[in-house]
Amino acid sequence: MKALVVGGSGFLGSHLVDLLLEKNYEITVIDNYVTGNKKNLNHIQNKIRIIEHDVNQPIPLSEKFDEIYNLASPASPIDFERIPLFILETNSKGHQNVLEYAKNHGGRVFFASTSEVYGDPEIHPQQEDYRGNVNINGPRSCYDEAKRIGETLTTIYRLHYGVDTRTVRIFNTYGPRMRPEDGRVIPNFFTQALAKKPLTVYGDGSQTRSLCYVRDEVEGFYALMQSSETRPVNIGNPSEMTILELAQAINKLLKNDAGVEFKPLPKDDPQRRRPDITRAKQVLKWQPRISLDEGLQKTFEYFNSK
Ligand SMILES: NC(=O)c1ccc[n+]([C@@H]2O[C@H](COP(=O)([O-])OP(=O)(O)OC[C@H]3O[C@@H](n4cnc5c(N)ncnc54)[C@H](O)[C@@H]3O)[C@@H](O)[C@H]2O)c1
Repeated sequence: MKALVVGGSGFLGSHLVDLLLEKNYEITVIDNYVTGNKKNLNHIQNKIRIIEHDVNQPIPLSEKFDEIYNLASPASPIDFERIPLFILETNSKGHQNVLEYAKNHGGRVFFASTSEVYGDPEIHPQQEDYRGNVNINGPRSCYDEAKRIGETLTTIYRLHYGVDTRTVRIFNTYGPRMRPEDGRVIPNFFTQALAKKPLTVYGDGSQTRSLCYVRDEVEGFYALMQSSETRPVNIGNPSEMTILELAQAINKLLKNDAGVEFKPLPKDDPQRRRPDITRAKQVLKWQPRISLDEGLQKTFEYFNSK
């Protein structure tokens, strides 16, 4: 089987490439390194083909891939401030370039959408049929709305042009190869705890997150891609915890006595996030297997070795 992984040098993309290699795929990666890291694929660089390319330009290939995974998109809050137009472009024009490629050459397309399409949700946990509560003019809208456009494009190409598509809604994922400076809660907490500093908790820390370990997450991607499910599917870990509980768990693991420091909550920060994974369980027979303790330990080993 031949796979193209767009955004394959990033955090999730590189773990997906590892999984596909284990399954003996012939792999091509496209990445422009806007947020990815060449080092993420160093350990397998002789086993795959890597093309440096911005997917906002047409894909410079003409062969057929059985599976095309599109994970290209900056995804951290710091990027929302730095490169909002690029994010919007990558999930619209860039994703359309991927869909056009499949329309012309064949192959099944996977779109990496996000739980952010639910915005600050009014229902809990979030099922795929929930249409969301996104602030279209807020600081996160460049990302949230970009992903909604990406989903719409995916649907148009499926219904009108016969492209075979799969859409995943990814909930917060963590693990080795996250960028230490990327502004998300796990790298922030590990960086601060390793430096024996207090962990920064925004608001009173009662907001919740449900964190999925990266290996579980990419196994969900693969299961979805092998299935016949064309509706969006939530992939994430439903075990929910408060940010304060997470901070305390990391301080305990790293034996950091510096505690936590509270700061004001950023605008539009979602209060609660938890996937309803009934569809994934029923249709894909997938559910996360790795406990938070095990996942945090593996992530600690990564940040500690940096
Ligand atoms: N990590 C999460 O918790 C999470 C949650 C929800 C959705 N997602 C989605 O999953 C995907 C991967 O996220 P990640 O956390 O691995 O982020 P990441 O930034 O580590 O990976 C994205 C990769 O895409 C590349 N890229 C971005 N724009 C590109 C372009 N125009 N052309 C070519 N390459 C480009 C980047 O260089 C990077 O290697 C993204 O689409 C993201 O929106 C991630």
